[in-house]
Amino acid sequence: MQCPALPDGFDFTDPDLLQSRVPLPEFAELRRAEPVRWIPQSGNIAGFQDGGYWAVTRHADVKYVSTHPEIFSSYLNTAIIRFNEHIQRDAIDAQRLILLNMDPPEHTRVRGIVQRVFTPRAIRALEQRLRDRALAIVETARTLPGDSFDFVTQVACELPLQAIAELIGIPQDDRAKIFDWSNKMISYDDPEYAITEEVGQESAMELIAYAMNMAADRKQCPAQDIVTRLVSAEDEGSLNSDEFGFFVLMLAVAGNETTRNAITHGMHAFLTHPDQWERYKAERPSTAAEEIVRWATPVNAFQRTATQDTELGGKQIRKGDRVGIFYAAANHDPDVFENPDVFDITRDPNPHLGFGGGGPHYCLGKSLAVLEIDLIFNAIADAMPNLRAAGDPRRLRSAWINGVKELQVTLD
Ligand code: HEM
Repeated sequence: MQCPALPDGFDFTDPDLLQSRVPLPEFAELRRAEPVRWIPQSGNIAGFQDGGYWAVTRHADVKYVSTHPEIFSSYLNTAIIRFNEHIQRDAIDAQRLILLNMDPPEHTRVRGIVQRVFTPRAIRALEQRLRDRALAIVETARTLPGDSFDFVTQVACELPLQAIAELIGIPQDDRAKIFDWSNKMISYDDPEYAITEEVGQESAMELIAYAMNMAADRKQCPAQDIVTRLVSAEDEGSLNSDEFGFFVLMLAVAGNETTRNAITHGMHAFLTHPDQWERYKAERPSTAAEEIVRWATPVNAFQRTATQDTELGGKQIRKGDRVGIFYAAANHDPDVFENPDVFDITRDPNPHLGFGGGGPHYCLGKSLAVLEIDLIFNAIADAMPNLRAAGDPRRLRSAWINGVKELQVTLD
């Protein structure tokens, strides 16, 4: 059955669509009437190019696509990061070096190496330092002069960057420049969101070069650190310098703004659901971070390409067709979530797909992200329990990243 409520020309990759209406009513329409729908034109979402794509909106179908990489390939098209010609030429083919764009067996090899960074032990080892950071960030915000401050720049931005720096052991003296490059790469100030376009190109190159130098250095002089374990572990396999450079670049994109937006959306959700904030302050439920990610779904969608003719949701998908998996739609699927449009920080179980659909590309940084969200809201609940909104959030213009550029808040 065709979905009657969507006008011709409707496109989920329109960057204005997410501006004010999350969750989108159109997602609900599609899930109900046409959960796999061909959208004939395309905009700028995560590499969705001209020619159209299948919009997949049901939880079960998003999971199916994510867990069948042999039918739905990530090769090259999942996350197009725009590089200038210089990077493309020098790095041979930059997109191929991005983990998100790899298929097995290459993906299995590289992921097998980089996941050493994210073991539960490695994340636990960071906890105390990140807790101290979270407290310091919140304390600095609390004591700012003036009536109000921007929650995004003053609170949400720093912890995700510090976490990545801690994870790979970036020396303190280098962090300011790493943070500067990382922020420039995601072009938050552009009228239309882009990763590493123009203003960020130089920064991406600098970050890659910095990481490659780090790798070369550890190969020559091994140390007791994670970079050494990634680039020179002989029996377990290791990354070459190019691979390490692009791994760090991907962390700076995948681990930075996702978590920043989750924290900002979480704050906004608490401010607009005071009952949930009261409950959080009283009980500190460990389920809150996952509900924030479900509710916010910072990554709206990713893309796959069909490697063969197949069927999905009653539709014939042809080899080569692009398939958009809309996590934001799946996360409000009433077949899976009771009262899906209710923000409930005690929701349990919460099988949301905000970190991906459970396939081989499932978010590597999930435990770290959950830890960061927990730490920052615990710190806010202790130090700034009476925060209030001082205006509406200013949203990022993007159909891919569900982001907030500015959220003014004030202390009572
Ligand atoms: C992949 C979301 C935080 C590192 C992904 C994917 C999503 C996602 C949707 C793709 C999953 C798929 O295709 O099946 C998020 C959200 C975050 C977050 C919502 C914060 C709330 C982080 C952090 C890091 C990280 C903190 C690391 C510091 C990665 C990596 C991948 C990934 C390396 C690629 C995995 C692969 O291709 O094998 N993330 N992420 N993410 N994420 Fe996250």
